[in-house]
Amino acid sequence: MSKTYTITAALPYTNGPIHIGHLAGVYIPADIFARFLRLTGNDVIYICGSDEHGVPITIKAKKEKKTPQEIVDRYHQNIKDSFNEFGISFDNYSRTSSKLHHETASDFFLKLMENNSFEEIISEQFYDEKEKQFLPDRFIIGTCPKCGFEESYGDQCESCGSSHNSNDLIDPKSSISANKPSLKSTKHWYLKLDNFQDFLEKWILKENKGLWKSNVYGQCKSWLDDGLKPRAVTRDLDWGVPVPIKNADGKVLYVWFDAPIGYISSTKEWAKENNKDWKKYWKDDKTQLIHFIGKDNIVFHCIIFPSMLKAHGDFIIPKNVPANEFLNLEGSKISTSKNWAVWLPEYLKDFPDKQDVLRYVLTINAPENKDNDFTWKDFQNRNNGELVAILGNFINRVVVLTKKYYQSSIPTKNKLIDIDKLTLESVKNSVTNIEALLNKFKFRDACAEFMNIARIGNKYLADEEPWKIIKDNPERVKTIIFISLHISSVLAIVSEPFLPFTAKKIKKMLVYGSHKVEWSWENLKNFNFLISENIKINEPELLFSRIEDLEIKNQIDKLNKDN
Ligand code: 2FM
Ligand code: ZN
Repeated sequence: MSKTYTITAALPYTNGPIHIGHLAGVYIPADIFARFLRLTGNDVIYICGSDEHGVPITIKAKKEKKTPQEIVDRYHQNIKDSFNEFGISFDNYSRTSSKLHHETASDFFLKLMENNSFEEIISEQFYDEKEKQFLPDRFIIGTCPKCGFEESYGDQCESCGSSHNSNDLIDPKSSISANKPSLKSTKHWYLKLDNFQDFLEKWILKENKGLWKSNVYGQCKSWLDDGLKPRAVTRDLDWGVPVPIKNADGKVLYVWFDAPIGYISSTKEWAKENNKDWKKYWKDDKTQLIHFIGKDNIVFHCIIFPSMLKAHGDFIIPKNVPANEFLNLEGSKISTSKNWAVWLPEYLKDFPDKQDVLRYVLTINAPENKDNDFTWKDFQNRNNGELVAILGNFINRVVVLTKKYYQSSIPTKNKLIDIDKLTLESVKNSVTNIEALLNKFKFRDACAEFMNIARIGNKYLADEEPWKIIKDNPERVKTIIFISLHISSVLAIVSEPFLPFTAKKIKKMLVYGSHKVEWSWENLKNFNFLISENIKINEPELLFSRIEDLEIKNQIDKLNKDN
């Protein structure tokens, strides 16, 4: 039955381009899920946008002697282009510096203010006397109280992933002047998170036990076991959504307060442009809200944002938050500052027609349950040994043989024998498995099962050897080619969530719009065959090409150049 889904992908910070870690952790799994749900006939919106506030952007602007707006304008476009080039099928990609977002976030804050969800607290905060400014979040660096990492930020430690208050850091320093900060008192608004402890315990620890991924459940449990405390949702900064009340000059909403509201404002923008009702996607109990994020965002999406939504009162809360772990690169953590990353714009310069290769490798090797490693050697092996040798080879052989034996016209099949029936049965089982796996957010296994269909096709051709019997038994060859073309049509449909560019090419080769039955996922299950006899298919076109050792060496040299 068709359902309504609001799928969100973490809004990326707009202080640099996107790298493979972002794609693997968030945008590809969310894209596979959104494409799959659309294909299976659901009402889906896939929402994202640029997270344009927050200290990292201000710091970058200061370093480059630019305004924060100039920085976000540059990277918003750069990031949006990368997503587009990799086929990430957002229904809307917005930005949090937009007027609509500022209004939405301000109204949200005011509603929470009205219903007494905040506590106003005056406290001592770090202050840089030289720069004459407060030092929230990443403006302060010090030793992490949890793991001892010496370069931890005020709000979060990148080494152990824990979130904390900047006052908890040992030996704090200003990240602008490197000076020891002083303390100065200032007023802020704190969300009374402790009011939601009971609700969150019941919802996450009881109702979602066994349904949410264990990494997500575990992090939530540890937060809840520690006991929730009020948390500041405003900051002394000049870049962000201004606190929308009198006497709050120089104060903005905390970036983690306004950013998730960005999902709502992006939906509103989409609805406006497409003449739809945004409320259906955020206020209807039957809608399934799913947040795709990386593991460093778990607390914000499972504890803080749901508390905000609950405090507001009108919104649904997420059904699931399938957070991924991190992707490493050649055995080390991806690091922007060390330039240890594969940046999407650069990848595309070097491999301009290989978007699906990266999508495939990042899916089949996704950091779903533990951190995982991307290596260029594995990238080459997966391309040459799987995409070229299995999927590309199968489709190519089928289309070439159809051309050679039947001038590209789909032959009429004869009576099926056992091996045909068994092969069709295996393909059908794979499709059922893929569906079940995708519904459980098991994208790696689903992708492997998809490749398995091409394996089944290759084995069928290798076992039946039509080229050996074409003279003696031409009627049998017609059936073999028909079945192989059927498997190709299944691959054309099933590949769409994983490899959208390849799916398009296969469909074009098989003239998918000309057959009697529509090539939908539903029909794939309802009809025995989607291809029609006597239809003339197109010329063979190579789907993938080999990647040579030299290309891989160049990538590894490029990485090591700066390190
Ligand atoms: O970690 C990040 O990159 C954040 N910019 C994610 C924000 S997600 C959301 F809440 F908007
Ligand atoms: Zn730490």
